[in-house]
Amino acid sequence: MQRIDGRGYFEGEFTLPGDKSITHRAIMFNAGAEGEAFVTGALMGEDCLSTMDCMRALGAEIEADGQSLHIKGTPNFRQGQRLNCGNSGTTIRLLTGFLAGKQVQATLVGDASLSSRPMKRVAEPLSLLGAEIQTTDGHAPVCVLPKPLRGAKVDISVSSAQVKSAVLLAGISADGETILTEPIPSRDHTERMLAAMGADIRVDGNSVAVKKSNLQAVDVCVPADISSAAYFMALGALKGKTLCKNVGVNPTRTGILTAFERLGVRYSLLHRGVSGGEEKADILVEKSDMRGISLTAQDVPAMIDELPLIALLCAFADGESRITGAKELRVKESDRIRTTAELINRLGGDCTELPDGWSIRGKRKLRGGDMDSYLDHRIAMTAAVGMIASENGGNLSRGECCAISFPDFFEKIGLKLG
Ligand code: S3P
Repeated sequence: MQRIDGRGYFEGEFTLPGDKSITHRAIMFNAGAEGEAFVTGALMGEDCLSTMDCMRALGAEIEADGQSLHIKGTPNFRQGQRLNCGNSGTTIRLLTGFLAGKQVQATLVGDASLSSRPMKRVAEPLSLLGAEIQTTDGHAPVCVLPKPLRGAKVDISVSSAQVKSAVLLAGISADGETILTEPIPSRDHTERMLAAMGADIRVDGNSVAVKKSNLQAVDVCVPADISSAAYFMALGALKGKTLCKNVGVNPTRTGILTAFERLGVRYSLLHRGVSGGEEKADILVEKSDMRGISLTAQDVPAMIDELPLIALLCAFADGESRITGAKELRVKESDRIRTTAELINRLGGDCTELPDGWSIRGKRKLRGGDMDSYLDHRIAMTAAVGMIASENGGNLSRGECCAISFPDFFEKIGLKLG
């Protein structure tokens, strides 16, 4: 249990851990490519370590020195492996597609949380390419069986970068063309990295087309994760001033800045640049009076992992907020619609669960309260921000799970994990 006191002021300059989505892809794709690559600024969180372990089991050589990785790829993965994906949805879903494309037989397993998350969403679209993926009642363990694939037209009903990536990774090994269409574009790190590795890939609005390609290893310089910076950005808006350095600002990920604009949060992007095909900038956020907002399905993909934190900000804003179109949050590491509503109400806020989001009546000041993380890293970190921003703080149980995406979160935020 961690005691977290309320603070009157929060200020500082922060260097945040590497982007989780980009790190997963840099490890996985290079591990299955021809040649060798150096990755710098990699996130060494538990989820990315799961990807690294799986790729080593499949035959890639990966040496890690701090946040720098040296990867020697193997286009021909070892058959018959049992791969432990831990807590990581990105590992299990992307790898299922990658293995199906390479006609590699494998069994993918995960922890209790991952084993309760839906896997049919990858098995079904992959079957349109001829893949044979056996799930356990729609969940992990997932068995990939070796089958030759042919390109197909795949329309997915939910915008999901994990599902999209699984199909594209299978598509680059299939005969013919695969065209994937999603309702609203989700994060496009896969498309950018596959293009940099020499894949035959075309993006046209909500659709991505791929053809059979050999991947060449590519060096990747990983920017800081905006999903991790978000907690420090929120504390700047609520309590003072924060500068987050060298943060990835790929437009498919910056929905939190859209939410900031509507809430009335003052922020600016400094030192903008591009590295390894991804935009980055320093993000300065200053204490602001916030007003209630409305967010709908169209807004959701670019802020999917930040929505619990955005809901928390709404609890501190003037007036009512309504967030809808976010049903996907029910199948994340916890049911984040339920756990976020519980958090806000425990802190003394006024939040009602909707089937696909929340309605929140803002209060400016929250008294504070205790919360369990439900072993969900994003709920743990959102709760910590809520407690720091509240008057009396609270106790956080099972906060260690933030190591999934942000191993030194408590240290960075000025707390010792008790
Ligand atoms: C991710 C995609 C998103 C996101 C997750 C990382 C990725 O999941 O929530 O944290 O790296 O592709 P969905 O594809 O399920 O929306």
